[in-house]
Amino acid sequence: TGDLADRIDRLATMVEDFPRPGVRFRDLAGVYAQPATFGAAAHALAAAYRDAFSHVVAVEARGFTLGTAVALAAGKPLVLVRKAGKLPGPLRSVKYDLEYGEDVLEMQESAVPPDGRVLIVDDVLATGGTLAAVAKLVTEGGAGVAGFGVLLELAGLGGVRRLHPHRLVALRTDR
Ligand code: PRP
Ligand code: HPA
Repeated sequence: TGDLADRIDRLATMVEDFPRPGVRFRDLAGVYAQPATFGAAAHALAAAYRDAFSHVVAVEARGFTLGTAVALAAGKPLVLVRKAGKLPGPLRSVKYDLEYGEDVLEMQESAVPPDGRVLIVDDVLATGGTLAAVAKLVTEGGAGVAGFGVLLELAGLGGVRRLHPHRLVALRTDR
């Protein structure tokens, strides 16, 4: 809702020149520090997808907080996608581009059955590289993507184009 978007906007402070000079970083710590808003955010994402999803997939590291809250709010199983080397196998892996270089995300093969439909949760959508990679991990195992849910979309970086054709719910969008 508009009201929730305004609350997130007020609580997410803008930090200049972090983590590098020239970058304006939105710090979501203030959202997590206010249980009423954090809880409303989790319930809003769960409600937006209602019965359209069977599992929540949360992305290391900052996606774990919101993803956990959404899974509990929805009463759905939680799956953790982790950076390389953290999960016992058998695994599926996907390489994805970072601003400088690349990294690998992994998911356990048995985490989502082929008839599952997944809601993928992270804190921030920036370039979309991370969420697009997670969607690939999910669909390569035969499961479907119900959509994506984030607290904050940074629209100027064009991330939503990389999520096509899946649905995105962003509780706040910075334009
Ligand atoms: C941040 C953020 C998202 C991603 C968004 O994570 O939590 O996962 O970047 O950027 P993108 O849309 O351009 O892919 P980061 O890779 O910094 O890792 P962390 O959560 O472990 O801090
Ligand atoms: N805030 C938090 N995470 C991010 C940002 C930001 O501004 N940009 C890319 N990931």
